[in-house]
Amino acid sequence: MFWTIVFHSLDCIIDSPACDVRIDFFGQDWSNQSCWFRIRVATIRHTTLDWNGSGTMTGSTDLTTKSETTSVPNDKPVSVDKSGPKVRKMFGSIAHRYDFLNHFLSVNIDHYWRSQTTKLAPPPPAGETIVDCCTGTGDLAVAYDRKSNGANPILATDFCRPMLIRSVPKFSKIGASGRIAVVESDAQYLPLPSDMAGLTTVAFGLRNIASTAGGLDELIRITKPGGRVAILEFSRPTGRILGRIYLAFFKQILPKVGQAIAPNASNAYGYLPASVLEFPDGQAMLDLMASRGLSSCQATTMTFGVASLYIGTKPIR
Ligand SMILES: C[S@@+](CC[C@H](N)C(=O)[O-])C[C@H]1O[C@@H](n2cnc3c(N)ncnc32)[C@H](O)[C@@H]1O
Repeated sequence: MFWTIVFHSLDCIIDSPACDVRIDFFGQDWSNQSCWFRIRVATIRHTTLDWNGSGTMTGSTDLTTKSETTSVPNDKPVSVDKSGPKVRKMFGSIAHRYDFLNHFLSVNIDHYWRSQTTKLAPPPPAGETIVDCCTGTGDLAVAYDRKSNGANPILATDFCRPMLIRSVPKFSKIGASGRIAVVESDAQYLPLPSDMAGLTTVAFGLRNIASTAGGLDELIRITKPGGRVAILEFSRPTGRILGRIYLAFFKQILPKVGQAIAPNASNAYGYLPASVLEFPDGQAMLDLMASRGLSSCQATTMTFGVASLYIGTKPIR
């Protein structure tokens, strides 16, 4: 079946003249009566790309075009607004203080969480690609480059350019510029072929993606059969006393400290507890992963359950 896509506008802003841009048009993507089209824009190495597109599709079926978000059945309704433009703007507004606040508010434990992630979900065999989605300022990509001694090419992807830009000097500093490529892209529509990654990771990112199930589907799509998907995310400590202390810190103190250090109109540090408290953790997350097709799913809690690492394997067909 052929579709005709008529664009009303498509604006590309390309930062580097030395980039290689590929645009693929996918006519349809069916998911229980949802359908949309994807625009995949691939940039090579440290080039970045902004795109905005709008259009209509004509074909033999009535379609609704969706350019930014999709709703996948199984997504639980949430009260937090996770629309792409809002989330991108929010992270853009705190990008300059993100690393400092991350380390400060977690008392540097975030380093430990990432290093545990590289141990429990180790790099795939040398030469196989690792894709780190929602890479932000690139700390997990750096941790994997260290862990693999540079034996794996890494793609670090994120849709927030101010965050991504801060990853680039980190990669050069460790001499990994030739091994870690930065791709500016929405994690729900990665400009990457299916079955290409030996390991796909996401740290503190899946929670922010508009469609959790859709984001998970995309991580699974790009992972090769037999490869693993590793998700590091905040979770909720279960102990009664610790749980209460954590909730008080998370809901009352953290938003105020965050706002004081990185004042932002998006209330990013109010969004953080709200999004964490609504996000599936523990068994609910494992059930979601299994329902999207991952096997051997397991969870490891860290730091009394403040963070959890979920690992699943894409079955060999
Ligand atoms: C809390 S930060 C985590 C960054 C990094 N992984 C870390 O461990 O510090 C979340 C990141 O997810 C990115 N993000 C959120 N939704 C996204 C989406 N739909 N597509 C791509 N990136 C997204 C944000 O831009 C932000 O950089």
